[in-house]
Amino acid sequence: MIDWYLRENPLSQLKDKRVLITGGCGFIGSMLARRLAHLGAEVTLVDSLIPLYGGNLANIADIRDKVWLNISDVRDPHAMSELIRHQDYLFNLAGQTSHVDSMTDPFTDLEINATAQLSILEAVRKFNPGIRIVFASTRQLYGRPQYLPVDEKHPIVPVDVNGIHKLAGEGYHMLYHKVYGIASSCLRLTNTYGPGMRVKDARQTFLGIWVKLLLNGQPVKVFGDGLQLRDFNYVDDVVDALIHAALRDGAIGEVMNLGSDEVTGLRDLAQRLVAVNGGGDWELVPFPPERKAIDIGDYYGNWKKAHTLLGWSPVIGLDEGLRRTLAYYRKHGALYWD
Ligand SMILES: NC(=O)c1ccc[n+]([C@@H]2O[C@H](COP(=O)([O-])OP(=O)(O)OC[C@H]3O[C@@H](n4cnc5c(N)ncnc54)[C@H](O)[C@@H]3O)[C@@H](O)[C@H]2O)c1
Repeated sequence: MIDWYLRENPLSQLKDKRVLITGGCGFIGSMLARRLAHLGAEVTLVDSLIPLYGGNLANIADIRDKVWLNISDVRDPHAMSELIRHQDYLFNLAGQTSHVDSMTDPFTDLEINATAQLSILEAVRKFNPGIRIVFASTRQLYGRPQYLPVDEKHPIVPVDVNGIHKLAGEGYHMLYHKVYGIASSCLRLTNTYGPGMRVKDARQTFLGIWVKLLLNGQPVKVFGDGLQLRDFNYVDDVVDALIHAALRDGAIGEVMNLGSDEVTGLRDLAQRLVAVNGGGDWELVPFPPERKAIDIGDYYGNWKKAHTLLGWSPVIGLDEGLRRTLAYYRKHGALYWD
């Protein structure tokens, strides 16, 4: 009877489970926290809330009484050792996400995206080796695609320091699985968007600043010729993938791309955003040199492996996702603009 119930309602396994989310006040972490709290999990968020990054207390305002919040830095091994004990699941999302910042301040990127990841895994090995881990990796580590869509066998040639350090973070999670049997999975996320993303600048995603400009009556700025192809996932779909990665045994020790078949040029994306908004302008502007130097050209991913291993497919189409995103910032933008 219990087996049948778990098979029919796999998410019910999370009820009363202790879950730690690093980067829990960030864009994706907070959305994940909301879903897990609704599923009855006992959720603890760790976040440093450093202003340069995507953490924002507005992201968790509606669930503040349903989660524990620990304002700590993942670079603090003592704090992390305490936080990791007694948890059933770790969703490891804390990260420095700006590609440009990783070039101007590479050592901070190293500390957060690589060294801290290693010390988290050391804490897991010593104090909680039975925990289940899902790590948020990135498609950035492929670099400039040599073929499309990019699958997991594509060569790894990062074009920036962030890509190298995220690769190290991912590599540590896989190594600790192979050598110590730690049950970790890695998802390589593509451009993720939705309510709660950082919109005050382009540090997390260019779509964020586009939304801010549009809702403040300014033209959206598209770099270069705007023909670069990208795929996008709405944040709810990414949360689904993270949760299924944590629950499926077949995902342990695996690295999987997320992605979408709705591939769009950036100029088309700007047009769609303006159309969904019901007005506004966009314009082509020259690529800033520091961005051009690390641009990856066209990218879209093959996400068949995640479909096979997780039963995952993205379900929110781009227009619907953009509509929900704009609606959110029309209402709550003041908490995110500055
Ligand atoms: N959003 C995307 O399009 C995307 C794409 C690929 C990969 N990812 C990965 O997904 C993860 C989550 O990204 P996001 O979009 O939610 O970004 P985000 O910036 O909103 O979330 C990251 C969170 O980590 C926190 N953080 C940063 N450094 C920290 C530290 N030293 N200690 C504790 N907390 C710290 C930030 O305050 C922030 O709340 C990141 O690891 C990122 O690399 C995101």
